[in-house]
Amino acid sequence: MNAQSINRRKLVIANWKMHGDISSNQHLLQAVIHGLSDYQQADYVICPPNPYLFQARELLSNTKIAWGGQNVNQHDKGAFTGAVAAHMLTDLGCTYVLLGHSERRVLFNETNLTAAARFDASVKSGLTPVLCVGETLAEHEAGLTEVIVASQMDAVMATLNDQSFAAAMQVNMVFAYEPVWAVGTGKTATPEQAQAVHAFIRHRIAMRNSEAAGHVRIVYGGSIKADNAKKLFSMPDVDGGLVGGASLSADEFIAICKAAN
Ligand code: PGA
Repeated sequence: MNAQSINRRKLVIANWKMHGDISSNQHLLQAVIHGLSDYQQADYVICPPNPYLFQARELLSNTKIAWGGQNVNQHDKGAFTGAVAAHMLTDLGCTYVLLGHSERRVLFNETNLTAAARFDASVKSGLTPVLCVGETLAEHEAGLTEVIVASQMDAVMATLNDQSFAAAMQVNMVFAYEPVWAVGTGKTATPEQAQAVHAFIRHRIAMRNSEAAGHVRIVYGGSIKADNAKKLFSMPDVDGGLVGGASLSADEFIAICKAAN
């Protein structure tokens, strides 16, 4: 296997958002662990709400499934009520963290600037950031997809100094193309639409570092289901998926993960 095929093993990430409780999580996690035990050709990550990271650690520790946070704060510590620092996530065994999700941007007023600062803090703590980018429906219809995605990518790429960029490569940073019009709507980008934007994202990374562009995983998110995953994952620049709603059903999520094998 060459370096590229190792680094670009398919990756499927579950974003549970604000769902679950101790009992239902336990059933879901156990079913997923069992369902994926024979499917080791891809990497899997579960991102539960923060209070359940402890439970994820307990159940996933001796499996091939990783766990991560749904967000992180850029500060290391201090008077930031409600915030969680990167080292707190690593303390709980997290190896991944989602950043810049459209729900964070729209509902919690997070910006490209905060996403960039959080990206930097994450890689410095050894967490693999999954930076979400994507255009709204209005932007899509106005033909602005590339302009928006470029501005979201550049906000992060431009703030990383060489040392941070090297750290980001070290932790195998991930990008997620999540068209906002497809997130939680039941509408999915066609495999061709996703491929075109993923290739654009890879090109944007290459402008900073061509070696990194060949290795970076770019996953697609937005109403992935068992019946559309295979086609999406077969596109050359689609390296896996970020799954919201369908990750709450063990059967659906396992089927999506199998499609990545
Ligand atoms: P969805 O969510 O799969 O429910 O569209 C994806 C996401 O928000 O990451």
